[in-house]
Amino acid sequence: MTALLETKSLTIRFGGLTAVDSFNLSINEGDLFGLIGPNGAGKTTVFNMLTGVYLPTEGTAQFDGQLINGKNPVQVARLGISRTFQNIRLFDELSVLENAMTGAHQHARLTVWESLFRLPRHYKEEARQRERAYELLAFMGLDDRAGLTAKQLPYGHRRKLEIARALATEPRLICLDEPAAGMNTGEKSELSALIRKIRDELNVTVLVIEHDMKLVMGICEKVQVLDYGETIALGTPREVQNDPKVIEAYLGGD
Ligand SMILES: Nc1ncnc2c1ncn2[C@@H]1O[C@H](COP(=O)(O)OP(=O)(O)O)[C@@H](O)[C@H]1O
Ligand SMILES: [Mg+2]
Repeated sequence: MTALLETKSLTIRFGGLTAVDSFNLSINEGDLFGLIGPNGAGKTTVFNMLTGVYLPTEGTAQFDGQLINGKNPVQVARLGISRTFQNIRLFDELSVLENAMTGAHQHARLTVWESLFRLPRHYKEEARQRERAYELLAFMGLDDRAGLTAKQLPYGHRRKLEIARALATEPRLICLDEPAAGMNTGEKSELSALIRKIRDELNVTVLVIEHDMKLVMGICEKVQVLDYGETIALGTPREVQNDPKVIEAYLGGD
C-alpha cells in the first residue's frame, strides 16, 4: 500500500534554529493519526510545511504520489489537504453559514467566465455550496446557529465551525491543529466522537495535533511524538505512552 501522505527528511531552519529536523511521516488513507509533543516541538511547523505556508529547507513531502513542497496553500487545498489553525481564523462578521461556505467556495467548480457573467451555472454552484455547507454544519451540530455571526459563537463552537469550513473543501486529508484547545471536558468528549465520525462516515483521513493526551490516546490508532524538531517515538498510543523518551519529554518539558 502506498502512503497517502509521505514526508522524507523534511527539515526547516529559521536562522540558526532547526525547528523540524529530518521528519519522516507516513500516513495511509483512512488513518486517524496523532502528532504530539511538548510546546515548541515543531508540530505546527510541520502543518505549515504540508500546507504550503512554509517552504521546507530540505526534504520532500508527497501527497497521493505528488510532490507538495513548493506548492502554495491554494494548490495544496485543491489536491485535497485541508487544515484548521491553532489560533482560530474565522470571518467574525460573516454568518456561521457563510464561514462554512468560504471552504466550499475554494472548491468551486466554475470557470472565471461563469462567475464573472453570473451564468446559470454560477447560481447552481452557489446553491450547491450552500447546501453542502449546511450539511456540514449539521454534521458538526451547528446547523441551529447557521444565521448567527461567527463572533456570536462561544469558543468551543468556533473551533467546530473551523472544522466544518475545512471539511467544506472536500478534502481527502484534514489536518487539525489542537482542535480541543480551550474546550471543557464535555466539549472534548463530544469533539472526540466527531473526529472519529469524520474518518468513519465522511471517509476523510485525519492527522491531528493535540496537547490533550487523553484525547489523542482515546481516538488515534497511530501516534508520532516530536520533541525539539525530532521524532522520538512512533507507535500505538499504548506503545508511545510507555516509552521512556516520551515520558521524559513530557515531564521534563511543560
Ligand atoms: N516563522 C518562524 N520564524 C522563526 N521561528 C519559528 C517560526 N515558526 C516556528 N518557529 C519556531 O519553531 C519552533 C517550533 O514551533 P511550533 O511548530 O509552533 O511548535 P508546536 O506547534 O509544536 O508548539 C519554535 O521554536 C518556534 O519558535
Ligand atoms: Mg503548535
